[in-house]
Amino acid sequence: MPETKKFRDMDLNERLDYIKDNSPISEDGMSAIRGWKEIELKKGENHIGFMPFSIGLVKITVDGKVRPIPIVTEEPSVVAAASHGAKMAASTGGFETAVNKTETTGQIQIIGIPAYRMEEAIEKINASTDSLTEEGNQASPHLVAAGGGIRSIRNKVIDTKCGQQLIIDFDVECMEAMGANAVSKMAEAMAKPLEEITGGKVVGRILSNLHIGRVVTCAAKFDRNAIGLRKEMNGNIVEISPDEMIDRIVALSEWAANDQFRATTHNKGIMNGVIGAANALGQDTRAMEAAAHSYAAFGRPYSPLSYYERSDDGNLYGCLKIPIPVGVVGGVINTNPIVKGLLEMTGCNNSRELASAIAAVGLAQNVSALRMLAGEGITNGHLPLHRLRTEQGQA
Ligand code: MEV
Repeated sequence: MPETKKFRDMDLNERLDYIKDNSPISEDGMSAIRGWKEIELKKGENHIGFMPFSIGLVKITVDGKVRPIPIVTEEPSVVAAASHGAKMAASTGGFETAVNKTETTGQIQIIGIPAYRMEEAIEKINASTDSLTEEGNQASPHLVAAGGGIRSIRNKVIDTKCGQQLIIDFDVECMEAMGANAVSKMAEAMAKPLEEITGGKVVGRILSNLHIGRVVTCAAKFDRNAIGLRKEMNGNIVEISPDEMIDRIVALSEWAANDQFRATTHNKGIMNGVIGAANALGQDTRAMEAAAHSYAAFGRPYSPLSYYERSDDGNLYGCLKIPIPVGVVGGVINTNPIVKGLLEMTGCNNSRELASAIAAVGLAQNVSALRMLAGEGITNGHLPLHRLRTEQGQA
């Protein structure tokens, strides 16, 4: 993406032309973004109108590719912060990611199995995994045709106030979909056979939003030459050297690692970027929030999702591990041409690439917030920008 004039200095038409020339967005996608006021959007239940939000853009290098990622949020400083984080990593190679899997877990709850018959019920389920898999897969044929489907079935007994319950967890390869509906349909389809096998009663059958089969590890080195601070504040010059700033950010990272009150706010900063991008790209943001915070406490006390340290070459190293349950097919992508256009613009061709890009925006946002916190302070950095953008009508 060559750039003679800075993106922020371009007027709206220049920005849109830039996107047209420098991203894989289609003509239709471009016209949807340019002509958003004229688009006939799908009306929801009890419709009373539409509510437009500004779309901001962050250019971020992820796994060697420069991607324009749109952000929609009520907090305009998020775009500036994520852009700044992206810039600090650009000269040191950008963000590198690895996505563990594209699997979503489904769950089925069976009650009413007497304790003396539990072992037998479990044995029968274990002997029936092939037929259960077949029954489940038949409920989501499109997913199976695309190469996905149930990959494993497990069970566990939980002790509750109303007696023992047998819980079935099953993992589904969801390919390019987030898979919430497909997985819940599978869970529903397996209910009857499970009742027949166990003699119990199935009550709950639905996906789990603890998406451990969709974890992105995202790491970057933030350039020491960009990390220091020199700024005029209330007539005084505030100056923090790169080494001092790295030490302060590492100290902030350690604070979050040892204090849940701070870890929650640290993670909120990450989610500022993640949810902003997910909003713009038509993803289920509630699923992403639930997954992230649950993962932050998965098998450990509630913890920060990212950590920072000084790298051997004297830069700041940051690493984020976060579940990013997203899809590039289905849902609002099919019904909202603006979302479709924005997704095309990112150049993300599959759910792994999309998850990686969104995680990178999360880490970019996080490092920038920490730098501000370690430097001029949030109310001196972040909030004035928020006020300025709001006064300018988010121009
Ligand atoms: C504000 O929206 C987010 C921050 O509070 C995150 C943080 O403190 O790390 C700045």
